[in-house]
Amino acid sequence: MTEPTSAHVARYRPESHGGEDDGRLRSPVFDRVSPVFLTAMAPWLGRRGGTVLEIGAGTGQQATASELAFPALRWVASDPDPVHRRSIAAWAAALKAPLGGPLDIDASADWAGLPEVAALGPLDAVVSMNVIHIAPMAVARGILAGAGRVLAPGGLCVFYGPFVVGGRMIGPGNAAFDARLRAENPDWGLRDVAEIEEIGAEAGLGFAALLAMPANNRILILQKTL
Ligand SMILES: C[S@@+](CC[C@H](N)C(=O)[O-])C[C@H]1O[C@@H](n2cnc3c(N)ncnc32)[C@H](O)[C@@H]1O
Repeated sequence: MTEPTSAHVARYRPESHGGEDDGRLRSPVFDRVSPVFLTAMAPWLGRRGGTVLEIGAGTGQQATASELAFPALRWVASDPDPVHRRSIAAWAAALKAPLGGPLDIDASADWAGLPEVAALGPLDAVVSMNVIHIAPMAVARGILAGAGRVLAPGGLCVFYGPFVVGGRMIGPGNAAFDARLRAENPDWGLRDVAEIEEIGAEAGLGFAALLAMPANNRILILQKTL
C-alpha cells in the first residue's frame, strides 16, 4: 500500500472516538454531515438501482446510512485500513444493513483492475467523502482514473469535502484547515475544483454539479460521458 493511509488512520481510533467492543468507530462529523449529504444526493441517487462503490469509507457510518437510505442501490464500502474495515463491517451488522464489502481498496493503486471491483460490474457511482484533501494528489488522480474505467455511461463520481473554488478558499475555516493539513503533510491540502475537473475530463468524466453544503463544504459531482 502506498503512503496516503498511514497518517490519518489514527483519527478514529477507539480511544479517541468512543469505539465499541465490536470494532465500531465513530466519526465526530457523521451526525452533522449525514442528513445533509443524503438529502443533497437523493435527486442524484434516489432513482438509480445499480451499484455504488465508496472509496475511503472510514468508520462505515455513512456507507451504512447510505445503504439504508437508498435501498434500491447496492452500496459497497471500501477502505485500505483494516481497522476501518472492521468498523465498517460492524456498523453494517449492528444496523442490519446489506452493505457490500468492505473491500480493501487503495485508491492510489490500480484499484479498477482488481477482480473484486470487476466483479461488481459497471457502477452507477463512485463516492468519496473527506478523502482527497487528507491524501496526496495520487489518491484524487486514482479515484478519477479508476472511476473513468468502472462507471457505466452516465455514472457519477461524487466527492464530498472542503474545496478551493474559483482559485479561492471558501471561508477562513477552510484556509486554516488547509494550512493545518499542509503542516502535517505537505502533500495534503484542499483540492481545487478546477483541477479535479481537468483530471476528470482526461478520464472521460464531465462536470455535473457543485453543491454547497454546510460548514463551507461542497459536493462535487462528475459524470461519465455517454
Ligand atoms: C478522513 S477519513 C474519511 C472517512 C469517511 N469517508 C468520512 O467521511 O468520515 C479518510 C479515509 O480515507 C482513507 N484513505 C486514506 N488513504 C486512502 C487511499 N489511498 N485510498 C483509499 N482510501 C484512503 C482512510 O483510511 C480514511 O478512512
